[in-house]
Amino acid sequence: MTSINPDTIILGIESSCDDTSAAVLKGDVLLSNVIAGQKVHEAYGGVVPELASRAHLQNIVPVVSEALRQAGVKPEDLGAIAFTRGPGLLGSLLVGTTFAKGLALGLGIPLVDVNHLQAHVLAHYIQTPAERVDTPDFPFICLLVSGGNSQIILVRSAFDMEIIGKTIDDAAGEAFDKCAKVMGLGYPGGPIVNKLALQGNPEAFKFAKPQIPGFDYSFSGLKTSFLYTLRDELAKDPDFIVKNKEDLCASLQKTIIDILMNKLEKATKAYGITQVALAGGVSANSGLRDAFIDYGKRTGHKVFIPPFAYTTDNAAMVAMAGTFAFAEGHRCSIDAAPYSRVQI
Ligand code: KG4
Repeated sequence: MTSINPDTIILGIESSCDDTSAAVLKGDVLLSNVIAGQKVHEAYGGVVPELASRAHLQNIVPVVSEALRQAGVKPEDLGAIAFTRGPGLLGSLLVGTTFAKGLALGLGIPLVDVNHLQAHVLAHYIQTPAERVDTPDFPFICLLVSGGNSQIILVRSAFDMEIIGKTIDDAAGEAFDKCAKVMGLGYPGGPIVNKLALQGNPEAFKFAKPQIPGFDYSFSGLKTSFLYTLRDELAKDPDFIVKNKEDLCASLQKTIIDILMNKLEKATKAYGITQVALAGGVSANSGLRDAFIDYGKRTGHKVFIPPFAYTTDNAAMVAMAGTFAFAEGHRCSIDAAPYSRVQI
C-alpha cells in the first residue's frame, strides 16, 4: 500500500461536469470540501456544456478561496495541486485544468492529474479530523454508478483498477433521469424518483430486465419497457402517471437496483472477492444503499457505502486520488491537456 505523508497538504480541484469543487486534504484527513452546483441547467432538463464552462469560470476563484479559508490553510502551505484531467466535458475540464496549472506555476509546486473515475473509487480512503473510518483492503470490487457510468471495477491497488463489467448502452443514472423525464418529474430525476419511491409499492409494476452475458449492464430495454407501460396505460387513463407516480418510481427503482446487484453479486463470486464498495452519484439512492447493506448481511462480505458528500462530484475525492499519486511520485507536466473520454 502506498505510504502517504501525513503532513503533505494537497488542494484538489474538480470541474468535470456541472459542479465546481475544491478541497484541502492533509495526509488523508479532509480539512475542507466546497462544492458549487449549477442551477442554470435545470431549465434545460440536462447539463448544457457551454453553460457549465461559463459557470465554472465564475465559481472557480471563490470556491478555491473558500476551501482554503475553511481549511485554515494558506496557499504557501500547499505541497501540490491535484486536478481532474478527465473524463468529463472538455470545456468544463479546461477551467479546472487551467486554473490548477496557473496556481501551481505561481506557487512553484507540483501538479498531479487525476482520473475522475479512479477518484470516485478512492473516495473510500478519505478520513475526517473527528474519527478514522474503516477503509477497504485491496483487492476489492467497486460498483461505480453515476449519470455517465455503470461499472463493476476490480480494484487491485490505488492505481491498478480493471473494469470487469460496464454498461453497453445507458448508465443507471441515465435510466433514472430519462424515466423521470417522461413522467414529467424534473431534473435530475434520480433524487426525485428516490423520494417518491419511498411512498410507493415496488411490486406494483414489472419492467423488462436485460439478459446480457458476463458482468455487463444494459438499461435501454428497461427504459423502453417503462415508456411502453406509460404509453399503454395513458391510452386507457390520461391521469395514469399522476395517480401512480409513487408506485411507478418504486417499481422502476427496484428494477434498476435488482439489475445492479445481480451482476455485482455474480462478479464477487467469480473473483472470490469479499470486500465491496459503492461509488458515484447513484450511490446516494436510499434503496441501493439498503440493498448493499442487505447484501453484506446475507453474504458476510464487508460493504463500504460512501458518505453523501462523496456520492456526487466533489474535490475531496480528487485530493485523495492526488495524494495517492503524489506519494507514488507521480507528477503531471504543465502542458498536459484534459481528456473527455478515458477508461480507468
Ligand atoms: O456522479 P454524478 O454526480 O455525475 C455524473 O455522472 O454526471 O451522478 C449524477 C447521477 C444523476 O443521474 C442523478 O440522477 C443520480 O446520479 N442520482 C441519483 C440519486 N442522487 C443522484 N439516482 C438515484 N437516486 C438518488 N438519490
